[in-house]
Amino acid sequence: MVKKLWGGRFKDATNADAENFTSSIDVDKDLYSFDILGSISHVEMLSKQKIISRGEKNKIIKGLKKIKSEIELDKFNFSHELEDIHMNIEDSLTKKVGTAGKKVHTARSRNDQVATDIKLYIKSMAESLKLDIIKLQKSIIKKSEKNIDIIIPFYTHLQRAQPILASHYLLAFFEMFLRDTERINQTIQRLNQNPLGACAGSGTSFTIDRFYTSKKLGFREPTRNSIDSVSDRDYVIDTIYSCSIIMMHLSRFCEDLIVWNSSEFNFIKIGDEFTTGSSIMPQKKNPDILELIRGKCSLVYGDLISILTNLKGLPLSYNRDLQEDKIPLFSALKTSIDCVKIFTRNFDSIEFNTKHIMSGMNLGFLTATDLADYLAKNDIPFRKAHHITGNIVAYCEKNNKNLSSLSLLELQKFSKVIKKDVFNFISIENSVASKKSYGGTSKENVKKMVNKYKKILLKSK
Ligand code: ARG
Repeated sequence: MVKKLWGGRFKDATNADAENFTSSIDVDKDLYSFDILGSISHVEMLSKQKIISRGEKNKIIKGLKKIKSEIELDKFNFSHELEDIHMNIEDSLTKKVGTAGKKVHTARSRNDQVATDIKLYIKSMAESLKLDIIKLQKSIIKKSEKNIDIIIPFYTHLQRAQPILASHYLLAFFEMFLRDTERINQTIQRLNQNPLGACAGSGTSFTIDRFYTSKKLGFREPTRNSIDSVSDRDYVIDTIYSCSIIMMHLSRFCEDLIVWNSSEFNFIKIGDEFTTGSSIMPQKKNPDILELIRGKCSLVYGDLISILTNLKGLPLSYNRDLQEDKIPLFSALKTSIDCVKIFTRNFDSIEFNTKHIMSGMNLGFLTATDLADYLAKNDIPFRKAHHITGNIVAYCEKNNKNLSSLSLLELQKFSKVIKKDVFNFISIENSVASKKSYGGTSKENVKKMVNKYKKILLKSK
């Protein structure tokens, strides 16, 4: 039986089932490197403040580094009896360096320790998630430039709406991911205060220097209220929320690509290496990866609900409920990182079926709005122009024609203002080229935006 760190007050050993039930080591061992980092800064501070000796500090740091390498070489024996990562490391440290190890927890509690570890974990994982998103953004730019001449319809209500550049469509996702990286930055900015030194929740009578540990650990400053420091998990919510939105954006992107990949749309081809076959239907090439990403979005939403519910009505300050925060946090971050990574590779493999897209561009009266705009520019009030165009579309439908196959005479039956130049307005290419308003889909605009995005990416890295 392992001797408990709090052994002094207890007569009887902990019940084995209770021990297993309360143990979190299987999950929180992922915090090991941050826990060790925190402990090293802590003892450096204790030594600087003459709370422990330099010799003790050096012994502790050596021991902690040894533990780190044991964990990394898979030689560390994690024990459920020692409950969590903090006690597993402290116990091993004491075994390694003796009495000095027993001093590592001076002026510290697991309550401030775990909060510090989690914040460090988030900073590191969210940063790498951000870098993965930036890679995806680079891929979007690359594909947008490569396919700058491809025109596709965009949809509202999943009904054909107007012609646009495929690049313009892809860059819509660039904007979403840009907001996502901003959200990550804000999350990190907001959590960037160091809880270490809040101890159990009231601070300490030792003359610690929290500004020193904050600086060492890369925090902007120490947290300002010791009770809040050990109770707060807003940053866990912020992080999972940021992940949820990333996953939501990915799931919408996936959905569009899945639809575009269907035989009915046939806008794109996904690389063989990112599709799977069916065990029964030999002709199938399924976009499983995209579907799985779409599916995994639900797991991350579940993580968000889980942490929100954990905190609802939870009395201040630390309660053991908070131990459960790591499960949704780790899950959300890991799932998001995995999904962004694999999505990017899948996206890179996609090619547009230009011929097929072009052959269908006459379907759905995509330039009807341009025709209405033409009439409006010829002094017909827009509402009336809309009505006239509606009549023309109905005429086309009845006679199985499309807008560009109507003769000038046919068009003039609906309005006298229509002249030969109308055909410039209702051609697919001209429709796209005419959308020069800021943020519109003209090639001129899209190229400018691509340059702007490139500059933004340069600054973000
Ligand atoms: N394993 C705990 C957690 O993750 C560490 C803090 C325990 N604190 C306590 N007072 N029992 O929340």
